[in-house]
Amino acid sequence: MYINFRRISKCRCVHLLVASLVLYVMLVGLEPLDHHAVSHVRSFGYRYLVNKFDFNATFRIAAYRRHGGPETGHDGGGTTGFPYLINHPDKCDGGGGGGGGWGRVLLLLFVKSSPENSAQRRAIRDTWGNETFVPGRRGERVRVLFVLGAHPDPGQRLRVQEDLLREDRAHGDLIQQDFADTFHNLTAKLVLQFQWARHHCPDARFLMSADDDVFVHVPNLLRYLRGLLDSPSGGRDLWVGHVHRGAPPNRRKSSKYYVSRELYPLPCYPDYTAGAGYVVSGDVAAKIYGATLVLRSSMYIDDVFMGMCASVAGVSPLDHAYFSGEGKAQRHPCIFDQMITSHGHETDMYALWRATAERELARSAPGPLGDTYCVAVRAALLCRPHYRDTYSCMAAFM
Ligand SMILES: *[C@@H]1O[C@H](CO)[C@@H](O)[C@H](O)[C@H]1NC(C)=O
Ligand SMILES: *[C@@H]1O[C@H](CO)[C@@H](O)[C@H](O)[C@H]1NC(C)=O
Ligand SMILES: *[C@@H]1O[C@H](CO)[C@@H](O)[C@H](O)[C@H]1NC(C)=O
Repeated sequence: MYINFRRISKCRCVHLLVASLVLYVMLVGLEPLDHHAVSHVRSFGYRYLVNKFDFNATFRIAAYRRHGGPETGHDGGGTTGFPYLINHPDKCDGGGGGGGGWGRVLLLLFVKSSPENSAQRRAIRDTWGNETFVPGRRGERVRVLFVLGAHPDPGQRLRVQEDLLREDRAHGDLIQQDFADTFHNLTAKLVLQFQWARHHCPDARFLMSADDDVFVHVPNLLRYLRGLLDSPSGGRDLWVGHVHRGAPPNRRKSSKYYVSRELYPLPCYPDYTAGAGYVVSGDVAAKIYGATLVLRSSMYIDDVFMGMCASVAGVSPLDHAYFSGEGKAQRHPCIFDQMITSHGHETDMYALWRATAERELARSAPGPLGDTYCVAVRAALLCRPHYRDTYSCMAAFM
């Protein structure tokens, strides 16, 4: 009996040892392979920390002048920013006149572009960014503007700038300020958008910011926004997109997103939406602009900076399953019915546009793709075991 017991115990001990060894190998060995899943779990751990921080007190310092850039002079004191090289101050005016509901801009859509990305801009103008094609209703208008800085290389700047002026004469949709258009100056581009909206389009119901390799399904987006206007909230107090919750700063020096402890001391960022594409309501846009004027930070990751502004302004983001983060949407009519943004379309903007427009036309007629069928298809496409940064499994059932 005694010996028997010992044997079992020894056996269990070995099992336990083997099990821990396997677990250890999995955790350590698989981390680089399955980095997304691990960082996802980790970020939920940080989630509990987030509520403990007083972001407001940490980031805020009244009347701090954040930029080194010269005054624009619009507001007298307080407003800082870079001077405009190309501007269209009256882009939001015209059309309706009277200032009532008629003619009011429903959506002011900024596309973050760079001076040399003229092919991307052309693709957007020809496809989802065509203002006149937008299925307007009740006289509501959509405005699409490209925001950019100056070419960072002084040797090429003159030539590129001439091209930009020519492009702008043809289309009249570029907004450019005099800062070097670089990764580390993205925050200047963010400030430019909220500043321009405040000064030249304060009545816009919604403001969107999107990358120039993002596909925006404008009809779906407008349906969603109209639904919000008709809801009890009246479309106010909105910041919606693909939300990153409790994301930790990247402390690896080799990373593009490296952030030093000096620049950002806390172990996690406030919640923010992926910069690839998000929407804020007009009242939130005004609050964010206010926050950009008082925030003490040189955070250069623009979507994190936006999260910091929002936490100072007391705005929290809403997650929407069909705003993609870094991911590209699966090409299927059942996905097209719901998608709002999809990322990573440097080359296939036209093809995706044709496919979604076709599906959009077929929508009104009772098509062969029934609701149940589409839920099943979406579940098959989205509910895969490996984690991907596009639409979540939950999105299949919306
Ligand atoms: C935008 O759409 C309108 C109406 O369909 C069309 O006439 C116009 O050529 C389009 N513009 C561009 C740049 O594709
Ligand atoms: C940002 O733009 C300003 C103005 O052009 C420039 O002086 C500065 O070097 C740029 N910063 C980075 C990090 O590129
Ligand atoms: C942040 O602090 C300022 C000044 O102390 C205050 O006016 C503001 O309401 C605070 N915001 C939030 C969201 O608590």
